[in-house]
Amino acid sequence: MENFEFYAPTRMIFGKDTHLKVGKLIREYGFKKVLIHFGGGSVKRTGLLDTVCRSLEEEGIGYVLLGGVQANPVLSMARKGIELCRREQVDFILAVGGGSVIDSSKCIADGVGNPDVDVWKFHMKEAVPKKALPVGVILTLAAAGSEMSASCVITNEENGLKRGFNSVTHRPLFSICNPELTYTVNAFQTGCGTVDIMMHTLERYFSLGHDTSLTDRMAEGLLKAVIEAGRIVHENPEDYEARSNIMWTATWALNTLVAKGKKTDWMVHMIGQAAGAVTDATHGMTLSAVSLPYYRFILDAGLPKFTRFAKNVWEVSADGKSDREVAEEGLSAMEAWMRELGLAMSLSEIGATEDMIEDIVKGTIILKGGYRVLTKEEIREIVKMSM
Ligand code: NZQ
Ligand code: ZN
Repeated sequence: MENFEFYAPTRMIFGKDTHLKVGKLIREYGFKKVLIHFGGGSVKRTGLLDTVCRSLEEEGIGYVLLGGVQANPVLSMARKGIELCRREQVDFILAVGGGSVIDSSKCIADGVGNPDVDVWKFHMKEAVPKKALPVGVILTLAAAGSEMSASCVITNEENGLKRGFNSVTHRPLFSICNPELTYTVNAFQTGCGTVDIMMHTLERYFSLGHDTSLTDRMAEGLLKAVIEAGRIVHENPEDYEARSNIMWTATWALNTLVAKGKKTDWMVHMIGQAAGAVTDATHGMTLSAVSLPYYRFILDAGLPKFTRFAKNVWEVSADGKSDREVAEEGLSAMEAWMRELGLAMSLSEIGATEDMIEDIVKGTIILKGGYRVLTKEEIREIVKMSM
């Protein structure tokens, strides 16, 4: 194994009715004024926002509300939040939502904590946040894994760049994960979340250099759990067990556990994020659209692992077949599963047009942890194959 550190100090509070104790929890930490940050309206429709406000009121905790975070959260909203927190002397941010709301909260937290630096500089890796307001989470959608991650992804509408960065400053202090809160997530968003979880695992599983037995076996376990639960939830959105498995898998797929001791790839996310920035398509759909063309492109360079993936995760029989045939069968099984869940299988399905190809290529950051270090020309080929 390569050397590593693992440090993920987020208090995870999992299960039915856990969101009801949010007021008590915040009081326990001694915070006095909370920014409750949320999205476009689902938390109002489900009544969750009212429940959260009541829970804070019962404990005598003050709060201000800031809703309207859009999927693919934008910098201007974070700036609004920073300003509001300063004005209202907020000392804690509670994100009630999915990855977008959590990331917007993290960005606000860094902005308030570092008043002398423009927060976008952190995303461009031109500055490093020194401190941040503490952030807590009530998770309503299992996907991004931001509830236990050090990462924060924001789109700057001024230049169209979507950029993420890692910092311990904004890792959530606690995350309340009640699978029942995800019952109302529609089939489209559930599918997007499920494939995001799969890709967070695969970005680590398929990587250059030594494989790490324990880490890769844990990854295979996560993959099998999410494949199975994804199918169940697609049929029955209120299956508590399956929703639970998806929620807990989402957290562990991203919190770097399945990256320990090895390199990581992340090229599916890099191309997907570039496509997301020009189309504004949902994150998960950009990943499903580019993942298979990318994996088929690098198949020969990582053949032993793609063969193992087919056998261990998709239970493809190797009898009488070449390794390449087995590996291809594994990717075909993945494709069939994605189609079953109704995911986008091409970039054109999510609104990309031929004239966007160059922007997607230009916006793709090339990383070096995958089986092949791609050239811009090869990225162009993969993007064209994904159309
Ligand atoms: O805005 P509302 O009305 O709340 O609706 C949301 C939104 O439209 C809806 N939703 C959420 N919970 C719901 C619900 N609808 C009904 N019932 C509920 N309980 O779902 C829609 C999507 O929400 P969003 O937060 O955008 O989804 P997700 O959690 O997939 O987050 C995506 C964002 O996370 C980033 C992505 O790039 C993207 O911007 N990522 C963040 C990561 C991180 N910080 O660690 C890692 C990931 O790889 C990812 O890049
Ligand atoms: Zn993702």
